[in-house]
Amino acid sequence: MSSTLITGIAELVTNDPDADDLLGAIADAALVVEGAKVAWVGRAIDAPEADERLDVGGRAVLPGFVDSHSHLVFAGDRAAEFAARMAGESYAAGGIRTTVAATRAATDEQLTSHVARLVAEMRRQGTTTVEIKSGYGLSTHDEARSLAVARQFTEETTFLGAHVVPADHADDPAAYVDLVTGPMLDAAAPYARWIDVFCERGAFDGDQARTVLAAGAAKGLRGRLHANQLGPGPGVRLAAELGLTAVDHCTYLEDADVDALRDSGTIATLLPGVEFSTRQPYPDARRLLDAGVRVAIASDCNPGSCFTSSLPLCVALAVREMGMTPAEAVHAATATGARALDRDDVGALTVGKRADLMVLDAPSHVHLAYRPGVPLVQQVWQGGRPV
Ligand code: NIG
Ligand code: FE
Repeated sequence: MSSTLITGIAELVTNDPDADDLLGAIADAALVVEGAKVAWVGRAIDAPEADERLDVGGRAVLPGFVDSHSHLVFAGDRAAEFAARMAGESYAAGGIRTTVAATRAATDEQLTSHVARLVAEMRRQGTTTVEIKSGYGLSTHDEARSLAVARQFTEETTFLGAHVVPADHADDPAAYVDLVTGPMLDAAAPYARWIDVFCERGAFDGDQARTVLAAGAAKGLRGRLHANQLGPGPGVRLAAELGLTAVDHCTYLEDADVDALRDSGTIATLLPGVEFSTRQPYPDARRLLDAGVRVAIASDCNPGSCFTSSLPLCVALAVREMGMTPAEAVHAATATGARALDRDDVGALTVGKRADLMVLDAPSHVHLAYRPGVPLVQQVWQGGRPV
């Protein structure tokens, strides 16, 4: 197995949980990659020899971003809806049905090449692990093929048949829940690791979410939820009660929701690109962190509420609009993103982790928030190789 010594690292973010600081940052550092994994990290003066050597010239090296929430399998776009919103319309998720129609009409090849383009776009911005949901098929055939497409790009696939009730079931939502928990789940489960529900007024209520998650669990799928995005609701407390790994959005929280998250250890995944793109109030990350809740940051890349694939943008928004420090936001988009997917092999650069990393054209992680909108990701490595 060949090894590479990376030197010239002004700041190495390891996310070592045993370090004194949150990011386990090492100044004037080096890192050895052997095969697909990290074999050594430390001060450059202590570095061992390796087969090859790469000098990154005084730049920062961070773990690749772990984007734990995206909806990349879709066709068409909703630029007109976005423009209308910027002219004063409000976001109500009704546009999901527009994307469902376009997605059903697309071929497998069209869906696959579109996902490939978005995954490449993410990778150029430092994302090395991505979760991808279905949710724009909403028929047995279209949900299963959406997940089969997603599976070509990631192991972190999520069945979101319970995104909204599609137009063809508008008269009988109960029958749609039966479809989701029956034939649709049977067809989707072989391609999915997770099951998700949009638990929100106008989508699915708490009882329906509980039913869908239970059906998924019986098929071996782990649960996660979209909750409390557009207003207060039962989703966050349900996620905590069920001990889910993560609950996503968390924009409208009551004190009882925050307490439930803290007590359960369920991660609150915040998606600041959504509030940026819908002009809604940002979730209060500071309140959550100060209460002892674990917070992840993800993109939610989708054609409706947030069409950005950029975690650097989301980190900058989290810092500038949600009260997080640069270190907290970077940790949330790497280490806690990994925890939000129950992954312990990514999100950190300590010995034995996957060598998934980014080299920033900047001397420290702070620049991700300090220089918003600037393409700072200079190099990305996945599984021990530059990509
Ligand atoms: O996570 N909230 C529900 N689903 C997506 C938006 C979907 C859409 O508008 O197309 C979200 O924001
Ligand atoms: Fe989402």
